[in-house]
Amino acid sequence: MGEVIGEFKSVTKRFGSAVALDGLNLKICRGINGLIGPNGAGKTTAIRLSLGLIKPDAGCAELFGLDCWNNSLAIRGRVGVLYEKLAFYDNLSGLEQLRLMAKLKGASDSVVKLRKLLCLVELDESAHGRRVGGYSAGMRQRLGLAQALLGKPELVILDEPTANLDPLNRAKILDLVVFLSREHGISFLISSHILPELEKVCDNFILMNKGKLLRQGVLEQMLDKSSLLSVVKFVVRVQPIEAVAALLGDEGYVEDLLVIDDSLHVTVKDATLFKQRLPLLVGQVGASLDEVRMVRSDLESVFKSAVTEKGA
Ligand SMILES: Nc1ncnc2c1ncn2[C@@H]1O[C@H](COP(=O)(O)OP(=O)(O)OP(=O)(O)O)[C@@H](O)[C@H]1O
Ligand SMILES: [Mg+2]
Repeated sequence: MGEVIGEFKSVTKRFGSAVALDGLNLKICRGINGLIGPNGAGKTTAIRLSLGLIKPDAGCAELFGLDCWNNSLAIRGRVGVLYEKLAFYDNLSGLEQLRLMAKLKGASDSVVKLRKLLCLVELDESAHGRRVGGYSAGMRQRLGLAQALLGKPELVILDEPTANLDPLNRAKILDLVVFLSREHGISFLISSHILPELEKVCDNFILMNKGKLLRQGVLEQMLDKSSLLSVVKFVVRVQPIEAVAALLGDEGYVEDLLVIDDSLHVTVKDATLFKQRLPLLVGQVGASLDEVRMVRSDLESVFKSAVTEKGA
């Protein structure tokens, strides 16, 4: 893990009788941080807390060594944010909207600089003067990102930045995040449910559920721990593939079964039982087994296993 720039220490936050954060401990590092967890895990609450928008009931959240609640103005001067639900003035042009936000944030509102910022997030000149109401979902997201980048923040928090975007636009937004991180030294905290994409770009992962930290670290640390978990993936090359797939589909320990090209991708709850049963099933249909390979768990299976573990 890289240099720590933020930390939650045993943070609890309740809304009435609902406990949104329950003694949450986490570290935000320099680089790109992925904040993951199921719906209702507390990700957006954690984000609002780190911006000093809400006060913890217990514990403290710090960014850059400053308590987020007691220094919220200083924090918001150094942090940019793209909220889960984007709200724009639809009758303003993209440029006018950005200029308004720059004024409110106390950032430079020079038109030249703002146009440059819009181009940086790949909203080209032809879009600057157009009404935001006519922007596509991808363009609105880019404008939101430009807004988050106003005032040269050290950390940019993105809550579900790629929700509602098509795969091409999702990839483009994340490419932009990587570029801004590598070339401009901006750190990111990204909350998202699209794990295979986060897996590609994040330096550090924070996995939470029910207001608590489940695990945190670089991808290797997340995946290593998964070897202790019960869900394991195998790639099986077998002929004829359909007959074996049909039999495996009826086995109780098989969680998921996919035929991709000439291989079976099997996710199992019990690897030992799978390895015992596979040769028997193959023999039963007179098939030939060419290869059985265990696949390292990916972030998605870590996520699934961790949030379904007892007590998680
Ligand atoms: N203002 C609020 N009033 C009441 N309950 C709230 C409030 N904000 C959050 N909660 C509750 O706190 C819990 C955590 O919500 P939060 O929005 O932080 O989750 P999340 O991880 O962002 O979920 P999602 O992935 O669906 O965006 C949920 O049970 C939610 O209902
Ligand atoms: Mg949320």
